[in-house]
Amino acid sequence: MAVPVILDCDPGHDDAFNILLAAAHPAVELLAITTVAGNQSLEKTTLNARRVCDAAGLDDVPVAAGRDSPLHGRPRLAEDIHGRTGLDGPGWGAGEPRVPLDPRDALTLIRDTLLAHPVPVTLVPTGPLTNIATLLLAHPELTPRIERIVLMGGSTDRGNTTPAAEFNILCDPEAADIVLTSGLPVTMFGLNATHQVRATPDVVARIAALDTPLSRLCVELLTFFAATYREVYGFDAPPLHDPLTVAHLIDPSLISLVRAAVSVELTGTYTRGATVVDLDGVTGVAPHVDVGMEVDVPGFWDLIVEAVRVLGTRTDET
Ligand code: RIB
Ligand code: CA
Repeated sequence: MAVPVILDCDPGHDDAFNILLAAAHPAVELLAITTVAGNQSLEKTTLNARRVCDAAGLDDVPVAAGRDSPLHGRPRLAEDIHGRTGLDGPGWGAGEPRVPLDPRDALTLIRDTLLAHPVPVTLVPTGPLTNIATLLLAHPELTPRIERIVLMGGSTDRGNTTPAAEFNILCDPEAADIVLTSGLPVTMFGLNATHQVRATPDVVARIAALDTPLSRLCVELLTFFAATYREVYGFDAPPLHDPLTVAHLIDPSLISLVRAAVSVELTGTYTRGATVVDLDGVTGVAPHVDVGMEVDVPGFWDLIVEAVRVLGTRTDET
């Protein structure tokens, strides 16, 4: 039985590959895509989600725009990593994507999707958690229709935007706190796990060898992403953070998990947005989050390359 999923994202290079993976693999039923301000403005992340759906030949999944700013404060962008468009690398052209913008806002689309689906749905947020938190606050009656939340964000150790805080959590710490204290089952893939899956030249060569329009687009995305991660962080290859979420849903054996209490720092002068993961059980807080730890890296990349192959073949025929 395929896992029914809603992706809530801020494309973003790694979000884009998560959309491809969810679209390609039969173990996932992609019901809807919603967008949030994060890597770029809401307008740009939403246009990017539609562009990726176009490239993937994904014309039957609704795309709706969510919140353009966090619960408190101003949006924080990541233009230094994802570029002016939020998905720099390919020449996207000036035209509108074929995939339309759904007339509903993100919360309405998520609500409609949850109410319409016969079984509870897994929410997969890979950007700031503003949309998800707003949904939980506005529609507590929908909680029974949410199977679990599988998110990319946080870290068991250092941050990437401040020394303490990872980008998605730092963009909206209050939203992250609402999600992590919601009582819903949460699985968290933080930087400690996502930094294990770096798109090395060998991975890029495997994708290039597929030789389809989609694979060429993916190479352009990864080439740009590699350049910015080298420039900003000195990484030898860029970590493809977000697809750990869908990869986990496809094959739960791919990434080891530990159950731990996870708290979000909301008030620290230097630590606001940090995820404090009690791996040693010293806080007395009941462990309530499944935290991703060790990744089967070859197995992960096999999923990514196969997704690009499957979708690339499908779209190359059209
Ligand atoms: O810190 C990495 C996360 O922030 C990823 O989800 C990336 O796409 C950005 O949203
Ligand atoms: Ca993201």
